[in-house]
This record gives sequence, structure tokens and C-alpha cells, in this order.
Amino acid sequence: MEIIIQETPALGSIIAARIIAKLVRTRPDCVLGLATGSTPIATYRELVRLHREESLDFSKVTTFNLDEYVGLPPSHPQSYHAFMDEHLFGHINIARENIHIPDGMAADIPAECARYEAAIVAAGGIDLQLLGIGTDGHIGFNEPTSSLASRTRIKTLTEQTRADNARFFEGDLGKVPFHCITMGVGTIMDCRQVLMLAFGANKATALADAVEGPITAMNPASVLQMHPVAKCIIDEPAAAKLQRTAYYRWVYANKPEWQQIH
Ligand code: F6R
Repeated sequence: MEIIIQETPALGSIIAARIIAKLVRTRPDCVLGLATGSTPIATYRELVRLHREESLDFSKVTTFNLDEYVGLPPSHPQSYHAFMDEHLFGHINIARENIHIPDGMAADIPAECARYEAAIVAAGGIDLQLLGIGTDGHIGFNEPTSSLASRTRIKTLTEQTRADNARFFEGDLGKVPFHCITMGVGTIMDCRQVLMLAFGANKATALADAVEGPITAMNPASVLQMHPVAKCIIDEPAAAKLQRTAYYRWVYANKPEWQQIH
């Protein structure tokens, strides 16, 4: 895993947006895997700026989101459908038919999960998957003890994740759904490139365990150690519990020109 430590989330988000923009410019019909939550918001803001000011063209891009709450319709302000419209899709020239987000209102959830997996395959697989990390090490909503080979399916959120996400529901834990549909860990591992972002001191333990600890279903993000093309962009507080920060910083500062992220 390549670890890129930046002073602030703003600087890290600009690098993340550049990596995504470079892919979109080189392969205009690429397939992006997207995340929600607080972490990617600044990256989406920068992508919107690149679209408006530097003509970054999303017209041929296809997207698949990681997850959606079960029982929230797209019109619900806290649904991930609404989140994506608010932070990205409503501001770029993506074709509506190229946007894919699990349907949390599906009457037949296993069928919806199978349909979602098939749609990813039909699109040719995901070129780059953007990820955040939960304070318990989840990626997507693959909570600790999730099968590291899992595919898109229903999951039950942990109390920790529901408490973390209560801030989006007026701080009211009672309003946070218990269930979600999420891409599996195996689905994420099939993506050709993974870009995980982690900002803030509350991510430091999960991040250190994921990067430098053993690979374990107790921290699903740790499986990214087995991914051949995984980058992790973090800020200083999120890096606080890593052991090998001097090495990560040296590597990033001394990249050969052809590897640099412009
Ligand atoms: C969101 C997702 C989650 C979040 C994680 C971190 O689609 O799949 O894994 O990335 O819960 O959330 P924030 O960014 O709000 O700290």
C-alpha cells in the first residue's frame, strides 16, 4: 500500500481529485467506484471545480457507489442517492443512466445485490474505487468480521458505525438505519485500483491497524494489503499511530518524475 501523508484534508483531497481526474482524462469512459460520508466531500468539490474551470468531462464516465441504507428512498435527504446528487452528480455532466447506487428500497434485496454485482461486471469492472475507512476499520459497510471474500449484500451496521453516522441524522441515533446494502470486500478487491482516504484523529487506530497490522476480518480495510494497486491518502492526525511514517514521507518526496501526481 502506498501511504501519502498530507498536512491537511484539503491538500490530500486535491491529490485524490487529481488522481481521479487523470484517469478520467486518459480513459473518458472509465468506471469509478464512489464513496459517501464526510471524507470524500472535498475531493468531490475539487472534481466539480475541475469540471467547471478545467473542462473535466464526465459525459462517458460510469459510476458505482459502495453502499446505500436499506429503507431510505432516494428522496430522503440522508440517503446516499441524495448525498451524491448534492456533492457531485448535480454539478457535473454525468449521464444519469451511467450512475449506479444500490436500491435500498428494493423489495427483493438479494436480487438487487445480484443485479448490482452483474451491472459492475457488465460495465467491465471498476477502474478506481474511492474509499473512506470507518473508525472500526470498515470499508463500504463491511463491518468487522465481514468475510474478506464477500460480495454485494445486506449488512447490519455496528452500534459504533450508527453512532458515528448519527451526526447526519440530527444527532439522533434512533433515526440511523440498522441495515444497508454494501459492495462486499471481494467486490472492492476486484477493482483495478483502490484509493482510500482517511482524515482526522478518530481514524488513527483503524488506519494503523489496516496499514501495519495483520490482515484480519476484524479490520476489513487491512485486506487492502493484498491489493496490487492501493493508495492511501491521509492527514497528519490520521497518521499519528503509524510506525513507519518517515519511510512513507521519504517515498512520496522522492518519487521519480514519471510517478509524480500532477
Ligand atoms: C461510505 C462508506 C463508509 C465511509 C466510512 C467513513 O460510502 O462506505 O465506509 O467511507 O464510514 O465515513 P466518514 O467519511 O463519514 O468518516
